[in-house]
Amino acid sequence: MRKLLVAGNWKLNGSIAMTADLISEIIEGLPNEKNFDVAIFPPFVYLPLANTSVGNAIKYGGQTVSEHESGAYTGEISAAMLKELGCQMVLVGHSERRSYYKESSANIAKKFQAALKHGLTPVLCCGETLEQRESGVTEKVVADQINAVIELVGIEGFANAVIAYEPVWAIGTGKTASSEQAQEVHAFIRSLLSLKSDTIAHLVPILYGGSVKGSNAKELFSMQDIDGGLIGGASLTSEDFLAICQQADVLSS
Ligand code: 13P
Repeated sequence: MRKLLVAGNWKLNGSIAMTADLISEIIEGLPNEKNFDVAIFPPFVYLPLANTSVGNAIKYGGQTVSEHESGAYTGEISAAMLKELGCQMVLVGHSERRSYYKESSANIAKKFQAALKHGLTPVLCCGETLEQRESGVTEKVVADQINAVIELVGIEGFANAVIAYEPVWAIGTGKTASSEQAQEVHAFIRSLLSLKSDTIAHLVPILYGGSVKGSNAKELFSMQDIDGGLIGGASLTSEDFLAICQQADVLSS
């Protein structure tokens, strides 16, 4: 059985004070015994604070990672550095990285590989733009994004990985994919993986991301192939984030 995962991608938001408060409020608000996982992805500079304050209740990681080990790559952060800070996970290939920073699927595959090499669980983000959905190429776009990683690391690379399906048109827009629309793509992703390995296809958690909130989380997370959410805006206050965690708790108990 796959456990639900509720993950908060803080993007370019926060401060030292906000990180400290948000982490302690989340810990306080989570049930003592829970059967779902929680993760946060704060900006890099707050990871040391996460390291000293999250305890065992929450996993944490970076929002991206360098594909390089070390060297003259100004501004980059390596997987080994994240690991040293106690990160367990890292996002790779978020649509904002793909579009604003021109990360290609080939770059992203290398980042995924670097994460695995250092014992981090990569969370591979994929998803189509509105234009791509409207022209009927959603499955092709998502398949290309995932196949680029399979080509580099093999299907075995997904034995310790998470996929996040985030339709670009639903990110930060308040427009959520309907649970059926999301389920359709999640099932497609699982079938794509099962072409290579049925076992791994059934093991990989596939998160949905795009305007998830307390009011729609239950419906989304109860779909067969949706294993939780990658939350942007609603991960920035404990009230909103815990409302989503509460739905995951109801479904997991
Ligand atoms: P929103 O929840 O703000 O739509 O963002 C989703 C996202 O991009 C998470 O990575």
